[in-house]
Amino acid sequence: MSFLENISLKPFNTFGIEVKARHFTSFATLTELQELSATHLFNSQPEKLVLGGGSNILFTKDFDGLVLKNNLTGIELVRENADHYYVKVGAGENWHGFVMYCVANNYAGVENLSLIPGNAGASPMQNIGAYGVEIKDVFHELEAWHLQEHTIETFTNSNCDFGYRESIFKKKHKGAFIILSVTFRLRKQPVFQTSYGAIAQELEKMGVKELSIQQISQAVIRIRSSKLPDPAIIGNAGSFFKNPVITITQYEELKKQFPQIPGYPAGENNIKIAAGWLIEQCGWKGYRKEDAGCYDKQALVLVNYGAASGKNIYDLSQIIIESVAQKFSVLLEREVNIL
Ligand code: EPU
Repeated sequence: MSFLENISLKPFNTFGIEVKARHFTSFATLTELQELSATHLFNSQPEKLVLGGGSNILFTKDFDGLVLKNNLTGIELVRENADHYYVKVGAGENWHGFVMYCVANNYAGVENLSLIPGNAGASPMQNIGAYGVEIKDVFHELEAWHLQEHTIETFTNSNCDFGYRESIFKKKHKGAFIILSVTFRLRKQPVFQTSYGAIAQELEKMGVKELSIQQISQAVIRIRSSKLPDPAIIGNAGSFFKNPVITITQYEELKKQFPQIPGYPAGENNIKIAAGWLIEQCGWKGYRKEDAGCYDKQALVLVNYGAASGKNIYDLSQIIIESVAQKFSVLLEREVNIL
């Protein structure tokens, strides 16, 4: 166990923002985490930040506390019954690596979530989702370390209070726990989710006649690679904003003025509208000021072309929010955590 001081966090955030952490350490086993928790430095730092893949964070300044890099690994089939496999994954495992493992073993349910950046432990934090599937659909339970009590707690699906890119770990328990492992309930008989427009089209392009989770995963990988930037090449954190959820009445009003506005049913009286479309209509798609930009293939993604600061990206997000509010009277909410 070692503590480092004043180290660059650039390799630890997919936006590639150059900031420093006052203190930094990592753990790869529960014992290491327990040992860390007993140190003076750990207990004397009021500000702690647990980092997984760093793929949903925008640093706007140096971090003046202790960064804890979660390197807990391991994938284990813990039990199975007639219909399901229960697979437990260490929080520090790469998410896409885990999906590939499931796809290879015919554990069905996460194939639509292929190629999402980040680590498995972060997946329940914001209930990651794509192409008609969310983590909550396959989540069984997780184990988490209470940073103050130094105890392990188990959270079931209903305890996590999942919502659209939301969970209890972003609200009531924000900053209180370190997620140690997540157990997923995966199907033996797949239920294919291809209703999300682009998937069916892509499968057709690929000439797929008989569906399999392997083919769906491939289709998703092809779609994502074609319109989302690879953080290893261009810094980004996926969708920067959430898709706003508005009432049907508001939607009908907007539609009168903007007949093309895309909307998807979201619960009884609500419609989820496409933030990427709103941003594009305001003229931001492909915009670049110095190294901060709005990606030219998907306006919902803000990018760092190299040397942008977190503040450059944040300021861009703010003017985008203001222009969307002015044109559509819709308030965009940031999805990425701002620090
Ligand atoms: N659109 C535009 N212009 C754009 C981007 C999108 O007009 O620049 C339109 C599209 O034509 C389409 C609609 O907006 O009609 C939806 O676009 P898309 O299918 O690309 O998905 P999204 O709503 O923009 C969401 C998720 C993504 C996820 C995709 C696919 C959020 C905040 N984002 O994006 O998740 O991959 O659906 O399911 O819900 C992420 O969270 O980081 C993420 C990438």
